[in-house]
Amino acid sequence: MRDDRLADIIAAHHNREGALLPILNDVQAAFGCVDEDTVRALAAALNLSRAEVHGVVSFYHDYKAKADPRPVLKLCRAEACQARGVEALVAEAERAAGERVHIETVYCLGLCAIGPAAMTNGQVHARLDGDRLATLIEAL
Ligand code: FES
Repeated sequence: MRDDRLADIIAAHHNREGALLPILNDVQAAFGCVDEDTVRALAAALNLSRAEVHGVVSFYHDYKAKADPRPVLKLCRAEACQARGVEALVAEAERAAGERVHIETVYCLGLCAIGPAAMTNGQVHARLDGDRLATLIEAL
C-alpha cells in the first residue's frame, strides 16, 4: 500500500525538472515523514545518491524523519518576535500544549511587524499574547 502510494507520487512528478522537492512535499503530506527507506527509494528512482536526497531532506525542517501524529503549532522565535515578547510566551505555550500538541520553533513567518506570530494548519496568527496562544493550542 505504502509502496504503491510512493510509486504514484514519484510517477506524478518524475518527468518534471527539479522533481525532488515536489515529491518530498507529497511524501511528507501522505506519510507524515520522509524516512530512510523513502530516501533510499527516491534516490534510486531519481538516479540521485542517497547523500543528495538526504541533504535536501535534512536541510528543510518541514521534512520529518519520523511521523508525529500530534497537531503542530509553529511558534516564531526569530529576532523580531523576540523583540515583541515571544520568549515570555514559550513556557505558557508549552504548558498549554502538554503532550497533546507539538510546539515547533520556526524562524520567521513573515509577520515581523505584528508578532509574536505563530502558524497552525497553514494559517498564520499575529499579535499573540498568552491567552490567544492558549486558545489556538486548545483549538488544535
Ligand atoms: S520574526 Fe517572527 S514573523 Fe518574522
